[in-house]
Amino acid sequence: MKRSLLALLCTLTAFGAQAADAAKAAPKGDAARGQPIASAVCGACHGADGNSQLAVNPKLAGQHPEYLFKQMKNFKPADGKQPERVNAIMNGMIAAFDEGQMRDMAAYFAAQSQKGETAKNRETIELGQKLYRGGDQSKGLPACAACHGPAGAGIPAQYPRIGGQFAEYTEAQLKAFREGSRANDPNKMMRMVAIKMTDAEIKAVSDYIAGLR
Ligand code: HEC
Ligand code: HEC
Repeated sequence: MKRSLLALLCTLTAFGAQAADAAKAAPKGDAARGQPIASAVCGACHGADGNSQLAVNPKLAGQHPEYLFKQMKNFKPADGKQPERVNAIMNGMIAAFDEGQMRDMAAYFAAQSQKGETAKNRETIELGQKLYRGGDQSKGLPACAACHGPAGAGIPAQYPRIGGQFAEYTEAQLKAFREGSRANDPNKMMRMVAIKMTDAEIKAVSDYIAGLR
């Protein structure tokens, strides 16, 4: 009896220590602390609440904080090396911020609600939906839904929300993955998908995704 109680206590203590370590390794951002920088600096392009107006600037509202934080880190040039994700505007915008501030801004944008776009092209919606839900087995193209979820909400922490995003932005990212100019996807997951897609398929799926909820 006594021994088993001791064992239980040891287990609990070990578990508590482990949890504390994990929390130290990945401190949560503070949305309230992120808000002033996010609205004043990032808001000019991404909208004060992360719902940008122009299609070149992706919506950040409602995105998973882990994904937002990873992208900010990937944009930030370090040790004189080429940043992992290359974009002249964002490489400059993020340079001044440290990881704590990035986590706070990520927490802020993640807590906002996304105002989604709509699909605009009736003629390609069926193809877009087919590719999104089922991929194309004949050429080994996996379904987007497998990693980004049936409604495009993504699967935290690795798989971003893509539903409701501007079609133009989604299309540009798929093409960047296809030509390898965006190469920050773990295990080449997106490059292996995009390389199997034609321009017409990319356009169709991007338009479909804009209206996905
Ligand atoms: C001058 C306009 C501009 C400003 C200001 C700006 N951004 Fe961006 N941001 C962009 C553009 C353009 C992209 C798309 C880059 C690309 O096409 O790869 C982007 C992309 C991003 C992404 C990637 C989104 C995704 O879905 O992958 C994040 C995260 C981001 N910005 C965060 C920020 C933060 C945080 C700030 C403020 C410190 C900020 N941005 C300020 C223009 C801007
Ligand atoms: C095997 C899993 C997997 C599949 C299948 C997949 N994706 Fe992805 N996708 C990812 C991962 C992981 C990322 C995040 C990459 C990173 O960390 O920068 C991503 C990122 C993206 C982005 C960039 C989002 C942004 O905000 O910049 C787009 C767009 C995208 N995927 C579209 C698609 C489409 C369209 C399909 C189907 C044709 C698809 N994905 C299939 C795993 C996948």
